[in-house]
Amino acid sequence: MALEKPSASTTVLVTGASSGIGTEMARQLASRGHGVTLVARRADRLDSLAAELSERHKITATAIPCDLGDPIARAELIEGLRAGPALAGLCNNAGYGINGRFARNDADRERQMVELNVVALHDLTLRALPGMIERGTGAILNVASTAAFQPLPGFATYAATKAFVLSFSESLSTELSGTGVSCSALCPGPVKTEFAAVAGSTMSESLPDFAMVSAEEVARQAIDAMESGNRTAIPGMANQIQALLGRLAPRSLVLPLAGRVSKL
Ligand SMILES: NC(=O)c1ccc[n+]([C@@H]2O[C@H](COP(=O)([O-])OP(=O)(O)OC[C@H]3O[C@@H](n4cnc5c(N)ncnc54)[C@H](OP(=O)(O)O)[C@@H]3O)[C@@H](O)[C@H]2O)c1
Repeated sequence: MALEKPSASTTVLVTGASSGIGTEMARQLASRGHGVTLVARRADRLDSLAAELSERHKITATAIPCDLGDPIARAELIEGLRAGPALAGLCNNAGYGINGRFARNDADRERQMVELNVVALHDLTLRALPGMIERGTGAILNVASTAAFQPLPGFATYAATKAFVLSFSESLSTELSGTGVSCSALCPGPVKTEFAAVAGSTMSESLPDFAMVSAEEVARQAIDAMESGNRTAIPGMANQIQALLGRLAPRSLVLPLAGRVSKL
């Protein structure tokens, strides 16, 4: 079994639940009856989402403000969870990108991006998996991106972090076979959230509507993947084609095109 049936004695931890895809994943998990543990830095947003979900769906929603870029805060978060309900699922969703030339970007934000998108996701997975394997059930959902399928000049570090997430998740998915625990990689293309504003990117403004998938639909496919234990989910036909081309096309073709798309 991957994501087990909802129970009062379990919860699903969603990182980056204060905005965008994470908020929608929390909403949809709660609507399917799961207790949720909401993590991000903005406490006010987490508190109001927790209140909304527990009131509407009669589930337990707990808000835990935490800067996941801080290793000590991460360790405290996991330690604190030991006293609560067992983890039925972990959605490693918190992440951000920076649009611009690597050498000109703010060095601290670049380092923090690797710490959040890669190290925190890796750390939370390390800490959550033993308990899941012991219980013989659990679902990890790691949010990658279609940026994982090829390098992306203009988003160099971001694409590299997401390539890590995809590769790591695909390997784990196979290693976990037979344990009752699944690991799925979610690879969205452009989604209207706060992502573009945080990244300083206008890329999605020039994209046609068919290239965009809503945060609700992305979240729905994410939770479906956790329930079925699917290895990957790439929401949207255009994104599936892009992922295939990114994997197969020669780099000499992909790199200049990708640089133009990301407005390098
Ligand atoms: N939107 C897209 O086009 C797109 C496409 C492909 C993949 N993705 C991926 O989808 C995931 C969600 O992004 P989104 O589009 O929903 O963007 P978003 O609206 O900007 O949400 C990002 C979330 O991450 C949280 N976060 C950022 N830094 C954090 C930190 N240090 N500690 C804890 N939480 C932190 C934010 O909360 P606080 O600020 O409150 O901490 C927020 O809840 C990301 O991994 C992103 O890379 C997005």
